[in-house]
Formats: sequence, structure tokens, C-alpha cells
Amino acid sequence: MSVRINASELITQATSILRRNDQTGYTAPSPRLYPHQWNWDSAFAAIGWAHLDWNRAVREIDTLLSAQWIDGFLPHIRYNPAVGEGYHPGPEWWPNVPVRNPGEQTSGISQPPVLPTAIYLVGMMQPDVDARRTWWARLLTPLRDMILCYLRTRTVNGSPLIAVVHPWESGADNSPRWDFATGRGFKPSRAYRRTDTQVVAATQRPTERDYGLYMYLVELIAGHRYDFRQYLEMTPFAVYDALFNAIWFRAAVDLNRIALALGESPVVSAEILSGFKDAFHRFLWNQSAQLFRDFDVKAAGQIPVDTVAGLGAIYGGLVDQAKAESMFAGYLARCRGFKLLPSTLPDEPQFEADRYWRGPVWVPINWLVVRGLQDLGLTSHAAALADETVSLVLRSGWFEYFHPHTGEGLGGRDFSWTAALVVDLLRRPVS
Ligand code: DGY
Repeated sequence: MSVRINASELITQATSILRRNDQTGYTAPSPRLYPHQWNWDSAFAAIGWAHLDWNRAVREIDTLLSAQWIDGFLPHIRYNPAVGEGYHPGPEWWPNVPVRNPGEQTSGISQPPVLPTAIYLVGMMQPDVDARRTWWARLLTPLRDMILCYLRTRTVNGSPLIAVVHPWESGADNSPRWDFATGRGFKPSRAYRRTDTQVVAATQRPTERDYGLYMYLVELIAGHRYDFRQYLEMTPFAVYDALFNAIWFRAAVDLNRIALALGESPVVSAEILSGFKDAFHRFLWNQSAQLFRDFDVKAAGQIPVDTVAGLGAIYGGLVDQAKAESMFAGYLARCRGFKLLPSTLPDEPQFEADRYWRGPVWVPINWLVVRGLQDLGLTSHAAALADETVSLVLRSGWFEYFHPHTGEGLGGRDFSWTAALVVDLLRRPVS
């Protein structure tokens, strides 16, 4: 099958999905399942929009940044009040969020900070250098606040690594990496009503046990006014997620590139970046798995589950070419011949082929690894993975995620990040 022959038809289909999901200023990930604005979804959407309508990409990012908090924190959901009760949990679960713009309603946790890198890439797609610089100059302060906020508010014991405090912050909600906490039977004090399983089969979504922990943590975090240091002692969940931290590192490097282009000093100093990289390797590298793992801050030990998060360092630029190549080959070797990257390795006992982050293949994760391999000069691996990713969507449709054996589409339909990133892979091919 030649992806090239179908590129223009795929781009037409992707464009119509993005336009349909456009909620006046932001792109809903999938309007029935996720009707509000999500942080990393919007960053990915902006990368796709930039190829189709650069000003629309700018608008996506402005809307997202309008949800920023006083201290720079950028939450994972910006609620659209017009949506009503179509999504759980709504803003009533996140009282008193300290937003900069009165009237904004947001969640009280974050998501992988892809945004600075998206802004760097979107900027580079603007051929008018003055327009690019003017736009970057307008965003430099909010981005600086956003990236530094994590170092100020989410680090402990002198380590520069960032602790995520809720599985939703990792983006990989029900990854088996988090079973150590979901297995403990936490439940919130109030009743809640799930909306997700009205849209997607329950077999493809997190379990009730997972939701018990999610909602318990929502109450804990909101009950302590979103101040990590206040609930650190009592939370069962504070982890150094290998993917989140790699995404933060790359975001910091890309933000420094923006600052440099504007003639400003780096936002994150070379000393901090080098300390971060050392800590990333020291805490997260697992010699026997030959992969990065996550670290449970409370138990002070690595979490013994191998997932695609372990390849995040390739995107982050935290490993050299030789290490990236051997990690990538090692991951595929454990995948029983799949050419795409299942979210959890199939040899892990908790692997489930069709349940959300416990096995399925995700386009944005494959995209991160493609771009990381490309930047490290591993172009033939990057091109092969890009080709497989686009072919999967061509075969199966614009789904949220895909069965790793059969390629069947799973989860939400007509998914924005799948559309946006296929546009990017086709319009900015690996070279
Ligand atoms: C959900 O509702 O499943 C989201 O992943 C939380 O952000």
C-alpha cells in the first residue's frame, strides 16, 4: 500500500475532522467523549492546524493559554461552560482554581507539557520571520511561567525531576504502571457518574477500580487547594513519569530555542538542564530492561512495568543515537513483530490489547518517537514508523487508539490528534 498515493485524500479527511471538532477557538479531542479543551490534545491539534490554517493554530494556543493560573500552571482541562453535563468530572470537582482570567473554569491537575514544543514547531512553519518572532515574543512570558512552575511546585528532596500527582496528568490514565496505586481500593467520599462508558465500550476504558483512585485523588488535590507540598505526605500517588519528564525536558530545550531567536537569555539554564538529564538517567534507567522506567516517589523505587513511556527519552533528546537505536530495537523485539508501538509491552502480565493505555497503539506516542528518532539522525527507523502509523489510520480510520494485533480502531471516533498528527507526518515527512 502506498501512503503517498493517498496523501491528499487523507489530508482532506483529516481537515474535515478538525473542522467538525472545532468548537470556536479550540478543538475538542472527540466532541461526544471529550467535549472540552484538553492541554496536550490542543498542542497536537495546533501542529496539525499550522499546516492548514496558521492563524487557526495560533487561536488554538491562545485559547489554551487563557486557562493559565496565576502561578503559571497550565491545567489539563479548560472547561467550555456551553457543554453542560456531557463530561465527568465537571468543574464542580475543582473548586477555587486560581486562574489568571476570572471566569475561566479549569481542572486542577496538568498534562504532559507538549505545548512549548508545539509553539516552536508552529512558529517554524510560519515563513514570515517577523510574524513568527512577533508571535513568539507575545508568548514567551506565559511559556516561561508554565515551564518553570513545574520546577517550583512539583519537585521534592532536591531532585529536579517532576512528580505527577494523578494518573490523568501522565496522559496514560490506566497504564499498568499505576496499578500499584489503583489496586489499593481508594474511593472518593462523593458519588460520581461516569459519562465515558456511555460513548465507548467499557471493555476499552479504565475500570471502576481505576476511577475510584482517580476521583479519590481529585478530592485530595482540590481539598488541599492544589498545593502539592500540602498533600505529599498523604497521597498514594506521586511519580516521576518517564514520558512526562522527557516531554518537559524537550519543551525546556525548545523554549530556549525560542528565547534565543528573540535575543533573550535561556529560560532554563544549561546547569539545570544538565542536572535534570543526570537525574533522569540516575532515577529512571533500568539496566536489565534496557529501558527507562517510572519512579514511585513515595516508595522511593522504580515501578517494574515496561511501557512505551520508556521510549520518551528518544523524543526528549535525553539519549544519544546509539542508545536510542538499541532501546527502539529492544522494544520492537519484545513486541512479537509489530511494527508499531503498543502502549504496554505484550510480555507484561497486565497487557490488555484493547483497553486504553494497557496495550493499544496511539498515534501521538508513535509521532513523538518518530520525531525523536528523526532528530537523532535515525531517519530510516523514523520513516518506517511514520509510514506504518499513517498506513494504520488509512486502513482503520481516525480512531483514538488501535488494537496492536489487528489494527482495529478503538475508543473515540474522528479523533482530533490522530487527524492533526497524520497531517503533520504527511506534510513534514521524515527526511
Ligand atoms: C478522561 O476523561 O478519560 C481523560 O483522559 C481525563 O483527562
